[in-house]
Amino acid sequence: MSVAAEIPTVDLRDLASENSETRQHAASELVRGYRDYGLVFVAGHGLRKERVDSLYDDYLNVLERPEAEKASWGGPQIWYQRGWTPPNTEKAVVAGGQPDFKECYFAATTELDADCKLFYPELYTDNVWPDDAEGFRHGMLTLGGDIHNVGLKLLEACAEALELPTDTFSQLTRGAANVSRVLKYLALDQSQVDAKVLWGEEHTDFNLLTLLPGGRLHAPDGSTGTSPQTPGGLFIRTRATAEHPDGELIRGVTPPGCIVSQVGQQLEIMTGGVFQATPHVVTAPRETGWTRVSMAHFIHVNAKKPMFPLRKFRTEQACQAYRPPVLAGTYGVKTLIDIGLAPASELNRLGYRHYDRLADIREREDS
Ligand SMILES: [Fe+2]
Repeated sequence: MSVAAEIPTVDLRDLASENSETRQHAASELVRGYRDYGLVFVAGHGLRKERVDSLYDDYLNVLERPEAEKASWGGPQIWYQRGWTPPNTEKAVVAGGQPDFKECYFAATTELDADCKLFYPELYTDNVWPDDAEGFRHGMLTLGGDIHNVGLKLLEACAEALELPTDTFSQLTRGAANVSRVLKYLALDQSQVDAKVLWGEEHTDFNLLTLLPGGRLHAPDGSTGTSPQTPGGLFIRTRATAEHPDGELIRGVTPPGCIVSQVGQQLEIMTGGVFQATPHVVTAPRETGWTRVSMAHFIHVNAKKPMFPLRKFRTEQACQAYRPPVLAGTYGVKTLIDIGLAPASELNRLGYRHYDRLADIREREDS
């Protein structure tokens, strides 16, 4: 059996079964997936494919608008945390220097914590929407909200399976900047295909849990019914073993009808590394002109919560690996600086601001 075929599929209906054996088996498969692969495939989620397709259609329509109009939806002053992100804006941490071949749209899909809006105004900013795009707005908010609820069920089931109170992880997410993102990966020309340009560099997500309802490829003529010879898609890196010290890059082929649920850095930290954030990459078909549209929902930890292994996971090794604790919001700011969305000067906001005032006093006293 290939490694990819061993990634568990977890049915949400089994996690809620009256039969305790069924429920426990599904929960232990969920833990095995998050622990060994950093992801599981999720069945029984109740999200109809037509809703996802309809959102993709609406998004592609919105992207046809003039560049100047698109640039008015969000922008650098809110670190692109809502609205439109133009191509070549974001970069992967430890990036290989490739241009970024996607344009994205972000929206928060749950209520935002009022304190966090003061503490981290860019991360907790209000949504922005294009004019006359009610279908797009409605699709993002309702689909994002429903996917979020799937994620909460998974977080609750894995807390129980780890013998923690059911809401251990889900309560961390209340009021957080939980965001949905739709993405369009752009067409490559022959020289980019020859140079093996990727659609996104290998990275781990910095949030708690990511949910991916499945992307859609478009042929150069815009049709969706055909497949390229070399389809590309999502690849994930497995944990290191003696045989494969760098892990193995395997194709994440999602079983029909399933969505993907993926561990982010925050869940890795909170579990002291029991669950591991999955390095992943989206590769383009090795043929010109193909595009891809997809959606990701990112469940975050509330910005006021400290990022450190929960008590149950505080082994000496885990504490060494994940110290010092920082607030989830500060962790987010640092990450957004690292990926080029927030200015590096934001780091100067950490710590005391007015050393220059003390230096001025000393200078006056010395003169
Ligand atoms: Fe990602």
